[in-house]
Amino acid sequence: MKRIFSGIQPSGVVHIGNYLGAIKQFVELQNQDAECIYCIVDLHTITVPQDPEALKKNILSVAAIYLACGVDPEKSTIFVQSHRPEVAELSWILNCHTYMGELERMAQFKEKAGENRKSVSAGLFDYPVLMAADILLYRTTDVPVGEDQKQHIEITRDIAERINNKYGQVFTVPNPLIKKETARIMGLDDPKKKMAKSASTAFNYIALTDEPDVIRDKIKRAVTDSGSEIKAASDKPAISNLLTIFSGISGKSIAELEQEFEGKNYSEFKSDLAEAVVRFLTPIQKKYNELMSEPEKLREILNAGAKKLEPIAKKTLIEVKSKIGLG
Ligand code: AMP
Ligand code: TRP
Repeated sequence: MKRIFSGIQPSGVVHIGNYLGAIKQFVELQNQDAECIYCIVDLHTITVPQDPEALKKNILSVAAIYLACGVDPEKSTIFVQSHRPEVAELSWILNCHTYMGELERMAQFKEKAGENRKSVSAGLFDYPVLMAADILLYRTTDVPVGEDQKQHIEITRDIAERINNKYGQVFTVPNPLIKKETARIMGLDDPKKKMAKSASTAFNYIALTDEPDVIRDKIKRAVTDSGSEIKAASDKPAISNLLTIFSGISGKSIAELEQEFEGKNYSEFKSDLAEAVVRFLTPIQKKYNELMSEPEKLREILNAGAKKLEPIAKKTLIEVKSKIGLG
């Protein structure tokens, strides 16, 4: 049986790129023959400075987003990363089997640290090892993520194989599950860069919690390409990206959309896209607001999730420690 694991950082907004690259797959997978675990990765979030009160709220907010988007706690396990402390212990063991050189090659670290290597946290450098610990602790077979996390799954595989080769079979080696069409949603303000919550302007992304008028305004202002045709093409990165978003939320194929908008101009297309996004997000936002008004219920679900995972986390850790000669 497949075991699916993935996580999202509680670091502010969750955007439509997160939804199309990751959460949409989370919901689809729970309806297949698979055991699904979805985490709120708060320990990853503290690799960069956080305001404690905002972090607490963002943790509940990601839980509410999961549920509002259709992750069903009856079918999937939802929990907060730091509620299962075994991951930190496994992380240390994995650290001792990971090379500095491997971590130095990580694109996300290079991008996040920039020129600033001397004053970013050691946690930011070590981020992929904590992610490997998440995946390996729960004996994951498949990891649904967006394209930007592919390299982190590759290093997870390398660490797992290295330890298996040295000590005998300890870890399940996981596979990435990346949806080609929606693996990398680009910024509305710059279709050459991925949509990111850390973007310098909120015009980069559509947050799942954006008000309808904000969504309309952001899509109206989105960068377009030269020409006037509504067509996906390599020389039309902006329109291609908007078509990908449209397709992802409506279920219509890009070809169908191209046909539907044949002869129409950018402004008609954008206005229909905005209405489609608003229609798609309205029920999600209603559910989200209801859930956020009952934080105790959310906490119960998260506590139950962490408790359910205790046996498997403890078992993996005991096995690993025994294999490598600890205790
Ligand atoms: P994060 O917000 O970094 O915790 O990312 C949560 C999930 O969303 C991960 O699986 C990412 O790969 C995915 N993701 C983030 N940004 C994008 C994007 N622009 N397009 C597609 N997937 C994304
Ligand atoms: N690093 C991932 C991101 O920023 C989040 C994450 C943490 C994750 N642990 C994970 C994703 C384990 C998949 C599996 O998007």
